[in-house]
Amino acid sequence: MTDGTRQLHLGAILGGVGMTQNEWLHPDIPGDASVNIDWYIETARRAEAAKFDFVFVVDSPYITPDTAPHFLNRLEPLTLLSAIAVATTHIGLAATLTTSYWEPYNVARQFASLDLISKGRAGWNVVTTGLEGAAGNYGREAHFDHAERYRRALEFVRVVQGLWDSYEDDAFPRDKAAGIFLNKHGQHRLDHKGEFFSVAGPLNIQRSRQGQPVIFQAGDSSEGRALGAEIADATFVAAADFDAALAYARDLKGRAAALGRDPDKVLAMPGINVVLEDTDQAAQARERARTEKLDFGKSLVELGRLFNYHDFRQYDPDAPFPDVSNLSLNSYKGAAERVVRAAKAENLTLRETVARFAWRHSAFVGSAETVAAELERWFLAGAIDGIILHSPNPDDFNRFLRDVVPILQAKGLFRIDYTQATLRGHLGLPFPENRHTAAARPRAMAAE
Ligand SMILES: Cc1cc2nc3c(=O)[nH]c(=O)nc-3n(C[C@H](O)[C@H](O)[C@H](O)COP(=O)(O)O)c2cc1C
Repeated sequence: MTDGTRQLHLGAILGGVGMTQNEWLHPDIPGDASVNIDWYIETARRAEAAKFDFVFVVDSPYITPDTAPHFLNRLEPLTLLSAIAVATTHIGLAATLTTSYWEPYNVARQFASLDLISKGRAGWNVVTTGLEGAAGNYGREAHFDHAERYRRALEFVRVVQGLWDSYEDDAFPRDKAAGIFLNKHGQHRLDHKGEFFSVAGPLNIQRSRQGQPVIFQAGDSSEGRALGAEIADATFVAAADFDAALAYARDLKGRAAALGRDPDKVLAMPGINVVLEDTDQAAQARERARTEKLDFGKSLVELGRLFNYHDFRQYDPDAPFPDVSNLSLNSYKGAAERVVRAAKAENLTLRETVARFAWRHSAFVGSAETVAAELERWFLAGAIDGIILHSPNPDDFNRFLRDVVPILQAKGLFRIDYTQATLRGHLGLPFPENRHTAAARPRAMAAE
């Protein structure tokens, strides 16, 4: 039990037909799930009935014929979340948009709209995009290099946040009797000129009741962590085991504290999947059976995605892992570097590397009691503030909602009902006062 002040946070990835190769084969996943609004709404409503903090939609603007099914044919995230917003009432709605191929003005406007449509439930997952091919879809010859992407991301987010504060919260009196629609003093230009962007503003939309959308961030390289520590309300990373999760959370919060931020307001929410059965033995047996059935060629493609879709099929699987360290530098850098480091340190073959990194082993395999106890252990030790649940198998999602959530509630770790109206509220994050209102206050007080 906790004293009830610190609560676990739960998000769920709406993964459609699956972000790995075989998920779509499950009989309960409609073959068109990734383009089927009814499926999305039903899944989001179920997460809402279980009192989840939010649902989340991943994004990536580049595919190949080998890309996993969900990415091949899917609804655009913000359009999708706008539809889910009107079919739900409490659950937060978060989506990825890349800072490498959009303009801050568009992104600010889209998320501000979602935030109003959902009445304060929007969240933006900031990524820089690891796939070089994205460049070809946005009129560029080459992808930005990794360091440049992260410099651009920081400026991008600061511009978006500046635009979100274009209107103070009392800017629109809408006083029909007096004929005053806008209080012009409450509207502010941005006049930003930086390394990458030049944006005048103001943005043409007001703030929602949560002030600004929540900022999520998912990047695991040291540049990615630095950005997360600076801008994120919550971060997503992969967490292979307890030690990795704890080390990550300490690193993230240490970096945030060094920047003068409250580390308790930068939430570490690793992406995890669970394997749930009635007993630990049954869960372990199912997990073994799953990995035995995996197609090695497809697993090679999944490993290759981390290295900008490098084709690992050209190598002898039983020879030492090939030297691809140069390919890790500009793709999914943090994850790719982890693979290269482990393969080198432990002298792994390509086959062993695939088994370790492409098979998506879970640290949460067992009965509902075992998985809940493990989540409690990670949470109480400070390794996680919550999780973002990725459920390749819908049976596991169903069991998590039905069996694990009530145990977490009984332990006092998770809400029994929503007590807040906004995503910021669910996550225990403060309301961000409009910067212009805050800046004007000392002047107003001095004048009194
Ligand atoms: C739960 C979770 C969700 C993620 N969602 C996305 C996403 O939607 N789009 C994306 O490009 N990267 C996403 N990422 C991040 C990538 O997997 C990868 O770690 C990151 O983009 C690489 O950044 P880095 O170069 O700083 O390591 C996600 C990661 C996690 C753990």
